[in-house]
Amino acid sequence: MLINPKKPWDDIPSSEITPEDVYLNRREFLGAAVGAAGLATIRPEAVAAAIRRRAGLQDPEVPAIVSMGEELRDDATEWRHVTGHNNFYEFGTDKRDPARNAGSFQPAPWSVRIEGECENPGDYALEDLIRPGEVEDRIYRFRCVETWSMVVPWRGVPLRNVISRAAPTNNARYVRFETVFRPEEMPGQNAPILPWPYVEGLRLDEATNLLAMLVTGVYGRDLPNQNGAPLRLIVPWKYGFKSIKSIVKISFVEEMPLNTWQEMQPNEYGFFANVNPEVDHPRWSQAREKPLPSPFRSRDTELFNGYAEQVGHMYAGMDLARWY
Ligand code: MTE
Repeated sequence: MLINPKKPWDDIPSSEITPEDVYLNRREFLGAAVGAAGLATIRPEAVAAAIRRRAGLQDPEVPAIVSMGEELRDDATEWRHVTGHNNFYEFGTDKRDPARNAGSFQPAPWSVRIEGECENPGDYALEDLIRPGEVEDRIYRFRCVETWSMVVPWRGVPLRNVISRAAPTNNARYVRFETVFRPEEMPGQNAPILPWPYVEGLRLDEATNLLAMLVTGVYGRDLPNQNGAPLRLIVPWKYGFKSIKSIVKISFVEEMPLNTWQEMQPNEYGFFANVNPEVDHPRWSQAREKPLPSPFRSRDTELFNGYAEQVGHMYAGMDLARWY
């Protein structure tokens, strides 16, 4: 599927590509040889690469150019946790269910319906929606309302690029997103866990904020099914439930959409869901967060998840405790 931009190694004939396990063993062998030759010959980059590799970040997959969040690179959560600890109730409610149950989900071919208050509605093939020349890698903090957090190198396009091509009319005040409904491939949708399909929404100014991203990849690879293949939203200043997965519909609407978690438990989850250490969940404190994978490590939660400078102006004058 040609969603992500061409990688430098795409032109190398597959016969010439060293299988990954052979490549890694060869590096170990070279490492041993260097050791035998004397410690003085070890280059710091080689050590850094070895540490990254142990952390699960294989060098060829590390994004080459990170347009935002480069300073977070050393804190990036390991691939195995990003892809092994998930919330995607369409595949089950246990954190390991999505990785276990999403194997037969078909993310291609994929099209997205754009509808409502816009000048260019229609059904768009994913390849036409996500233009390779616009794809960026950005490392963002990600904070779940349940208090666990991650740092993730996402790959995608600014949502505002897609919105500007759809050309919303003056009546459009909100953007509503909908996840695919495929109970035959998504076992959770056969049970009344949530009202399906999953729905989320943003105010138009939030959706066109530079940080809002339509994501097609993580760690330089296409999104795994459990992370919302082939297309999901990422709004890093909001709790994770706003980052809707496997999107098939984007609608421009006048009224504030009723998002799934607000519909389920309006006393616990609202529409805005901005990360805020001072507004507790009715059942737990939001003052601190636990970066995956350790349940014992914790850090202070930051207002707007650390992105106040880029997004705070959108909420000037709003009572953040009331509009949670
Ligand atoms: N999107 C859909 N369609 N279904 C879901 O259950 N869970 C949300 C969000 N998007 C969810 C969803 C929640 S609660 C979180 S925290 C994030 O996805 C988790 O994203 P991750 O599994 O990639 O970490």
